[in-house]
Amino acid sequence: MRPIIAPFPSARPRRARQSPAIRAMVRENVVTPSDFIWPVFVREGKGIEEPVPSMPGVMRRTVDLIGAAAKEAYDLGIPAICVFPYTSMEARTEDCAMAWDPDNVANRAIRAIKDAVPEIAVMTDIALDPYNINGHDGFVVDGEIVNDRTVEALVKMALAQAESGAGILGPSDMMDGRIGAMRAALEAEGHQKVMILSYAAKFASSFYGPFRDAVGASAALTGDKNTYQIDPANSDEAIRLIERDLQEGADMVMVKPGMPYLDVCRRVKDTFGAPTFAYQVSGEYAMLQAAAQNGWLDGEKVMMESLMAFKRAGCDGVLTYFAPEAAKLLNG
Ligand code: PBG
Repeated sequence: MRPIIAPFPSARPRRARQSPAIRAMVRENVVTPSDFIWPVFVREGKGIEEPVPSMPGVMRRTVDLIGAAAKEAYDLGIPAICVFPYTSMEARTEDCAMAWDPDNVANRAIRAIKDAVPEIAVMTDIALDPYNINGHDGFVVDGEIVNDRTVEALVKMALAQAESGAGILGPSDMMDGRIGAMRAALEAEGHQKVMILSYAAKFASSFYGPFRDAVGASAALTGDKNTYQIDPANSDEAIRLIERDLQEGADMVMVKPGMPYLDVCRRVKDTFGAPTFAYQVSGEYAMLQAAAQNGWLDGEKVMMESLMAFKRAGCDGVLTYFAPEAAKLLNG
């Protein structure tokens, strides 16, 4: 692109900003509820909706309440919901067997959502951290997060989710080789239509803190995730990993976190043109909510501005805890 700008005063760029009508005419991007994937937390029990303290406005819900929440989201125009399980410390084991149990709380939530709103796209998270005694995304052997054995477990997890009715699988574990292994297993088991939205460029970020509270992983986690998640200093590496996951059969890719990594979003979209999503993670959400609660920022305005930033950076959509609130605002 080679923009042509006449010299002043022939060009007065402010002409294009003079009124709401003219600004609407020249606006380059829009945010609509169909851009959102809504992450939700589910837990065991009945009739419980409990707030997550570090994420004001976000709830953990029991499975019996998740269908109604999904219905409400779909009626607001939100096309997809992403299920995350909360697990107590006692439910966690070293072998993580609950991860591929067809009746674990995440799989029951998938079925409950599909029963209540068959039209909504249900996305999942694939990683062992909600089930692992030490809070890691993979098995830990002699202090090391092992790759290949973890991939075998993740494949079992993927199949259990697909069988429960999930249409979009979200591997967030950052093990090597998992996308190809999952794609082959899905094909072999007759799940040709199940999509993979790979957390391909997932950084070793400290912005995940509130999420780890929400899923009960904060207390469990020993050490950090630096041997599998990407160094925040690297963007070429993120591009290589996106390419690798697309080649292994990912249908869509994700950059995570979102706002601190918008440069990566833009590079990914420009380089591959694939369906590209960003995850506006828990820490980003918590920062904006905390500032709004203190009266330091206008909550609604920064919410909408932050969501627009993802579209401007080339994203096709965004996983955001703001989804219902932003959709309500957009729907007037
Ligand atoms: C787990 C997972 C994490 C998030 C999504 N899936 C946390 C982590 O990797 O520790 C973070 C989401 C958020 O912060 O909102 N594999």
